[in-house]
Amino acid sequence: MKVLVTGVTGQLGYDVAAELARRGRGIEHSGVGSKDMDLTDAKQVEEVVHAYHPDVIVHCAAYTAVDKAEDESDVCMAVNADGTLAIAKAAKDIDAKMVYISTDYVFGGEGNLPFEVDAEKFPVNIYGMTKLFGEQAVQMLLRKYFIIRISWVFGKNGNNFIKTMLRLGKERKKLNVVADQWGSPTYTADLALLICDMIETEKYGVYHATNEGVTCWADFAAVIFKEAEISCEVHPIPTEAYPTRAQRPKNSRLSKKSLDAAGFHRLPDWRDALKRYLMEIGEK
Ligand SMILES: NC(=O)c1ccc[n+]([C@@H]2O[C@H](COP(=O)([O-])OP(=O)(O)OC[C@H]3O[C@@H](n4cnc5c(N)ncnc54)[C@H](OP(=O)(O)O)[C@@H]3O)[C@@H](O)[C@H]2O)c1
Repeated sequence: MKVLVTGVTGQLGYDVAAELARRGRGIEHSGVGSKDMDLTDAKQVEEVVHAYHPDVIVHCAAYTAVDKAEDESDVCMAVNADGTLAIAKAAKDIDAKMVYISTDYVFGGEGNLPFEVDAEKFPVNIYGMTKLFGEQAVQMLLRKYFIIRISWVFGKNGNNFIKTMLRLGKERKKLNVVADQWGSPTYTADLALLICDMIETEKYGVYHATNEGVTCWADFAAVIFKEAEISCEVHPIPTEAYPTRAQRPKNSRLSKKSLDAAGFHRLPDWRDALKRYLMEIGEK
């Protein structure tokens, strides 16, 4: 099996490529970043995909700067919507399976129940809207697709909430952290295992795949400090006290029913993932 991984210079793509390399025998893979294949250049996307001719494309690349996207909607659209359309077209040309990584931000964040995969979409920011367009492009063109929505991502190869908390926690005695946005962290090393299992199957569809357990950013920060033995007090604040350029959904809980129904394993609890991650990055 030949696999093309986009976004290999980012958090998830890096771990997917590493897991494919670990599985070795019978799996050949190639990872690309924006320098190798710019998603805003449809011709180049077609050329790269046709030249490598993979059986599977794991599309992890995206414009992920959520706040900046509010001021750069054209670039964000070009990468997340048009770029994904270009990948889907190329996958169709060569009859490849496609994995598209999406986000909790396609939902509006109302209520406090987990969103089912087919719940109403209502993105509250530009990034979420462009990721939804990406999903629609995939579903419009392909039959052999896996759409996997994730949230609150952390991995070794890139920046994320945990790394920010570790830095700030060492500098300050007290931190204000938002306590009314609820969701589940996703460890890319855990998700990479699931993705590599999924692509071996023909169980196509839409899935939610975060680590298990729900938390809010303030509680997440407090557990990070406890595990990393950093003495910094977390002061919980409401979203309104921490204004950001892009609006964030308050409820990002994602239902795992479709994952269960297809017989895929859920990811471990986020606290367990956090402990392993802190070891991986040398903070424990
Ligand atoms: N981070 C989160 O909290 C989060 C939450 C929910 C869903 N997701 C989704 O999960 C996936 C993985 O996220 P991540 O955190 O691993 O991303 P990341 O670390 O920010 O990495 C983004 C990747 O996309 C590539 N990229 C950006 N613009 C590109 C372009 N024009 N052409 C080609 N490649 C381009 C980057 O390549 P260069 O380094 O070469 O620019 C990089 O490899 C994305 O689809 C994202 O939307 C992320």
